Amino acid sequence: MKILVTRRTFPEAIEILNNIGAEVIVWDKPESPTRSELLEAVKDIDGMYAHITNEIDEEFLSLAPKLKVISEFGVGYDNIDVSSASKLGIAICNTPGILSESTADEAFSLLATLARRTHDLPNIVKNGEWGDFDPLGYLATDIHHKTLGIVGMGRIGSEMAKRANGFNMKVVYHNRNKRKDEFGAKYLNSLDDLLSVSDFVSLHNPLNESTTNMMSMKQFKIMKNSAFLINTTRGPVVNQDDLYTALINKEIAGAALDVTVPEPIPTNHPLLSLNNCLIMPHVASATHDTRMKMALMCVENIITGIRGDFPPYCVNLDAIKENARLKN
Ligand code: DGY
Repeated sequence: MKILVTRRTFPEAIEILNNIGAEVIVWDKPESPTRSELLEAVKDIDGMYAHITNEIDEEFLSLAPKLKVISEFGVGYDNIDVSSASKLGIAICNTPGILSESTADEAFSLLATLARRTHDLPNIVKNGEWGDFDPLGYLATDIHHKTLGIVGMGRIGSEMAKRANGFNMKVVYHNRNKRKDEFGAKYLNSLDDLLSVSDFVSLHNPLNESTTNMMSMKQFKIMKNSAFLINTTRGPVVNQDDLYTALINKEIAGAALDVTVPEPIPTNHPLLSLNNCLIMPHVASATHDTRMKMALMCVENIITGIRGDFPPYCVNLDAIKENARLKN
């Protein structure tokens, strides 16, 4: 059995894979494999421990006749063509649940940072611009009693609502599919309704065709001029050119992005020149404890899959039940 791990990971996770007697190939170079390196590496593997930087499309899958299971290190798997994998009977897995709290911690920290300006006011001190006490100087925005609009009330959205409760916020949410009234959050029928009443808008919906550019100029114009946007889901959900224009034109008050297009965002990108735009290097789940749990969950998926059983965190289980390669 051969397993490809496309990025360095915790030794504990590799040790578990080694202990089942598999040949484990860890891509431990400083950069992710290029497309041609990946296409070369996939040829005779049985299992794959994949990352967001790996484009797993029809061509890739067609080159991997033995591949039974792919486990993504993360909850989002928009880099994988799940429908092609399902046709081939390949199990696609991810690491849901265990990163929801860390992701919500980061999203809420970004909200608080934007509101209380803990990202830009320290520069005033560093630059020697801290002047005399001024009752009207350095004014920020309250968090308590403000309205948080959660787009996508899944596991991470729920954790965000929980945190907002602790800060005495009102919470509204909008989901495309199902209602999930919890933590006092009020369902709103449309995204537009949510945008028009929210002081903070936090995005927690997955990336797909219908959510690409979901936040564009039309949506920024609906938001309050005093409102802030927080994006910890996927970069393409926000139209960055429109966001820049919206920030410059004061359509909205500020934005915090954990994810961008492209990643990494070039250092000369106009968004980086704005004091009211805060960009993090895609790290919402990046705490030691959470990343360790994600690595172990990835390994659990792969081991179950290559042994011929259905993995515990499989996103296409129904689709592969009839033609799964796992059973071979
Ligand atoms: C996730 O879990 O989807 C993170 O964004 C890492 O890709």
